[in-house]
Amino acid sequence: MNTVKLSLILIAAFAITFGLSGVAGAFHAGGVAECMGCHNIHDAKSASSLLAGSDVSSTCINCHGAAGASSYHIVTPDADMPAGSPPYNRTPGGDFGWLKKTYTYSPRTGTTVTELGDTHGHNIVAADFGYNADGTNLTAPGGDMDATQLSCNSCHDNHGKLRRLADGTFSVSGGPIIASGSYDTSVVPATGQAVGAYRLLRGDAAQGAGTGGKVFTAVFNAVVPSTYNRTEAVTPTRVAYGKGISDWCATCHADMHSASSSKMTHPVNQGLGTSVTANYNAYVGSGNMTGTSATSFDSIVPFQMDNTTDFATLKAKAVNNGSVSTGPATSDRVMCLSCHRAHASGWKHMTRWNNEGELIAVEGLWPGTDSPNATAALAKWNLGRTVAETTKAYNDKPMTYGSYQRSLCNKCHAKD
Ligand code: HEC
Ligand code: HEC
Ligand code: HEC
Ligand code: HEC
Ligand code: HEC
Ligand code: HEC
Repeated sequence: MNTVKLSLILIAAFAITFGLSGVAGAFHAGGVAECMGCHNIHDAKSASSLLAGSDVSSTCINCHGAAGASSYHIVTPDADMPAGSPPYNRTPGGDFGWLKKTYTYSPRTGTTVTELGDTHGHNIVAADFGYNADGTNLTAPGGDMDATQLSCNSCHDNHGKLRRLADGTFSVSGGPIIASGSYDTSVVPATGQAVGAYRLLRGDAAQGAGTGGKVFTAVFNAVVPSTYNRTEAVTPTRVAYGKGISDWCATCHADMHSASSSKMTHPVNQGLGTSVTANYNAYVGSGNMTGTSATSFDSIVPFQMDNTTDFATLKAKAVNNGSVSTGPATSDRVMCLSCHRAHASGWKHMTRWNNEGELIAVEGLWPGTDSPNATAALAKWNLGRTVAETTKAYNDKPMTYGSYQRSLCNKCHAKD
């Protein structure tokens, strides 16, 4: 190991130890990071672009797949998630480790269901870590992107060029990036300066395309609390999503977006309206509509804040201490991330909650193969998961809905 690589590992170790996710200088600091963190000039593992890993995603997972549930980790190492043990990171985007969790169970006598791990999210190709292209989706559903090309830099800009300028506009130039722009604690850039775009995500044609060839024109406006890889057992991690989320996803899934095709698909990027808003705010759990808007927010069913691009407004709602638990206003919007995560989840088709059975919780418990409660241990409710796996799929959120809880589609539609 040469000294350059060692120094970068020490930087990463420092960030792990102190959880400095939002601190300038940690590694990317909102823009292009130290070149040698990803490139090896004379002893690269990948001939194309002289990368430190065999391919783009392996290069990223060298750091983002480090052991321990903390900060920027989004891939649990295989050794830490044997059968029955869930991936442990609880970030808003989700842990790619769920892609390696295949579940087999018998909901009824004579019926065996195999739920393949690769249905749990975006199958990034990372040869050094055993991540392969999706076996079923050869292209992006609702789009044409070749699934074998999917990598971290299909969505994130490996060089982090997009920036938010002092006047709130986004550009690939116009002033130096001084820090990450993702957090509630991110600085407000002074005139002539900039902060990074949310999560280094692509959003401007001038960035060109990452692997897979998709060029983005929609900016993903959002702010996350600076501590975001954490248990939601006591208070939720509330990401403030602003303008552009669904359009951003539609870059690769055009036909899943109702506005851009005649395909029959759930509305996105439209106001919740009076009755859905009233449902959301009153909904506590199946059969219980006694909630109020002051305390109705649920991080498992988030919404987009109107069409805002105002970062002061977004920052005020990006909290993880429960201080802002207000539900939506009628102008707030349903978006792809109301139902899906961005990387991977514990559920089929990367949804935020279980959409496969009629009950997601029974007897006031999250189900599991090892539940001491006979009903909660039934295969038709546990879908082959242990209690630990079901619980982790909800980021450790306690089961506080109805004692017999149905799909969280009901948070907005109250059909239960
Ligand atoms: C976070 C990881 C990362 C960092 C840090 C990084 N790069 Fe890269 N770079 C990549 C990846 C991944 C590719 C390959 C992109 C592809 O194949 O689509 C790449 C490709 C390149 C290329 C060839 C393709 C192109 O975009 O022109 C050059 C040149 C380059 N990087 C220079 C740099 C320089 C200079 C720095 C430091 C200022 C740097 N990189 C920092 C990840 C990184
Ligand atoms: C040398 C270790 C290292 C490598 C390699 C690396 N990262 Fe990171 N990454 C970090 C650290 C440390 C942080 C948290 C501090 C920061 O944001 O700088 C981070 C943060 C991030 C964030 C959140 C940044 C923000 O401002 O919100 C994204 C997104 C990200 N990395 C993507 C990538 C992608 C994509 C690659 C590969 C092209 C990559 N990283 C390669 C160490 C690394
Ligand atoms: C399909 C697009 C897509 C791909 C592929 C993707 N990301 Fe992300 N990533 C996102 C989005 C969108 C977010 C913001 C999620 C949110 O806040 O809800 C995000 C968030 C993150 C974060 C912040 C923590 C979190 O999970 O919220 C990190 C770190 C990160 N990505 C790194 C990576 C790395 C490393 C890879 C490759 C192994 C990768 N991403 C692949 C879209 C993607
Ligand atoms: C850069 C292109 C790209 C972007 C952007 C993108 N996706 Fe995907 N997505 C793909 C590809 C390619 C596949 C097929 C491969 C797979 O399923 O792993 C896919 C698959 C999916 C699947 C199916 C997973 C399964 O196996 O059933 C869902 C759900 C999904 N995407 C949702 C989203 C959401 C939500 C967003 C926005 C946060 C998004 N995608 C953004 C390229 C993209
Ligand atoms: C109201 C909740 C909801 C919203 C909003 C939503 N989805 Fe989905 N999505 C689902 C559910 C549930 C499934 C699984 C459907 C099934 O099993 O038939 C799914 C499936 C998918 C799939 C996999 C389809 C396949 O053929 O494998 C993709 C891709 C996808 N969604 C992308 C998106 C994108 C992109 C958006 C935003 C433009 C979006 N979804 C908005 C709930 C939603
Ligand atoms: C964040 C809130 C939200 C969630 C969660 C949600 N929906 Fe919706 N849904 C809406 C809105 C808003 C509309 C459009 C207004 C309306 O029809 O009341 C809608 C409309 C619909 C419609 C009528 C569509 C039409 O064109 O007439 C159906 C059916 C539907 N949703 C089913 C579902 C299902 C199934 C789920 C769970 C997978 C779900 N929704 C989750 C907000 C949501």
